[in-house]
Order: sequence, then structure tokens, then C-alpha cells
Amino acid sequence: MSADSGQIKAWAESHVDADPQAILEIAVQNFPKLALSFSGAEDVVLVDMLSKIDPNFSVFCLDTGRLAPQTYAFLERVREHYHVELDILFPDNAAVEQLVKTKGLFSFYQDGHQECCAIRKVEPLRRKLQQLDAWITGQRQDQSANTRAALPVVQEDGLFSTASQRLIKFNPLSHWTSAQVWQYIRDNDVPYNELHEQGFISIGCEPCTRAVLPNQAEREGRWWWEEAAHKECGLHAHHGIKPR
Ligand code: ADX
Ligand code: SF4
Repeated sequence: MSADSGQIKAWAESHVDADPQAILEIAVQNFPKLALSFSGAEDVVLVDMLSKIDPNFSVFCLDTGRLAPQTYAFLERVREHYHVELDILFPDNAAVEQLVKTKGLFSFYQDGHQECCAIRKVEPLRRKLQQLDAWITGQRQDQSANTRAALPVVQEDGLFSTASQRLIKFNPLSHWTSAQVWQYIRDNDVPYNELHEQGFISIGCEPCTRAVLPNQAEREGRWWWEEAAHKECGLHAHHGIKPR
């Protein structure tokens, strides 16, 4: 199934402040080849919501090889708790071996994170998305005033669509605040990554994520050695800017 641009825009406008579950319903009803992209952080609320809407839902995780031990443990808890098959995607081994051989294991501290993210996250994601009509992310507007402030609840994926494949991207939490996410987690006894108990808000790879202090913006803990305005890894295109 597909939906034309007008339909996508109409859904985005009519669901601008709808419950995330209503947005997930649209995704499930209209796109049989659909999967949730789950990072192992607060986006677990989408695992919970989707499991209640569609018992046969699909979830995938990008295992960069550099996730925190707590995140691996959490992925396993989610698998058991929801009785769901997690599709764990790995990067191309030759590409990782070449990067590490020539630049070492921590090249991102010198060169910036884009090269490593391109190999460990973006390429496996691109491979996965080729099998889908639509995907679901846990991005929210309140995560970044620089890159996510205008994020719609549903959009055409300008980064991963190709001439032969039009891909739709659902962001059902786009208009939710962090407080709403955590309220949902508490109200529904949703399991969460134990790093959240240690000052971590946004959680990515272990070497590229650190805890934040009270009142620090959550993405300040990501790639903290880089300029604040561009803390995106290449999974999500923003304002027409494609990551290098
Ligand atoms: S990132 O672009 O900076 O890495 P972020 O951590 O904010 O993204 O997560 C936003 C959304 O991107 C997540 O809710 C999830 O949908 C997707 N995502 C990020 N990292 C992963 C991952 N390792 N595996 C699967 N999905 C991911
Ligand atoms: Fe590599 Fe860091 Fe990007 Fe993970 S977040 S893929 S370790 S640069």
C-alpha cells in the first residue's frame, strides 16, 4: 500500500496533536511493510503501544557493536517482556574492519562521528528500509531546537526514498514532551534502560554518549566534543540538509 503526498500532508495536519496510538493505527492500517526502529532508549514507549495495537508488529535495532552493556541488557529484557522478535542489524563487517584498521577504534573523537555512523548505523538502516513501505521512529520535537523543532508526525522520508521506492516515516511521539513519555512509562509499567537512572537521557553508542547534568539539554550528552547545533548521526534528514 502507499499514500500520495496529499494524503501524507493531510494525516500530518489532522494528527498534529493526536495521541501517538492514533498515529500508529494509521501506520498499521495502511502500510503492511512497516517496522519500528528502536534504539533501546525512551522510544520503548512505542514498543509498548505498538504491541497493544498489532500483536505481529516488527521491530529492528541497529547494533553498531558499540552500544552500552546496559543497552544490550535492556534489548534482551524488551525481547522477553514483549515476546517480540527483535531484528538486530549489524554493519557490514568489511567496512568496519577497514575503518578500524586504518583509523583505530576511536576515530570519531578526531574526525567527527559522521564516518563511523555512516558505516555502523546508516548503511544497515538503508539495507533494512529497502524492505519496507514505512518506518516508525521515536524522534521528538523537544529533543532538539536546532534539528527537530518542526518534525511532523508523518512525512515522506526525503533521505532514504529512492526513484523506485517511496518511503514514509512516522514520528508518533513528535509532539510529546519528555515528561509525557516518562508519565506513560510509569503509568504502564514499561521497562526502561537502567542508564536512565544514572543521568542519561538521550542514549546512543557507549563511547559517544554521556550523562547530562540537571537542566542540560538532553542531546548535549551525545557527541559532546562536537558543535552543539549538528548532533545528528545521519538516520534522520532535517530541513532538507542531508548528512555527509
Ligand atoms: S540519533 O540519530 O541521534 O542516533 P536518537 O538517538 O535521537 O537518534 O533516536 C531517534 C530515533 O532514531 C529513535 O527513537 C529510533 O527510532 C531511531 N534510532 C536511533 N538509534 C537507533 C538504533 N541504534 N537502532 C534503531 N533505531 C535507532
Ligand atoms: Fe560510531 Fe559513535 Fe556513531 Fe556509534 S555514535 S556509530 S560509535 S560515531
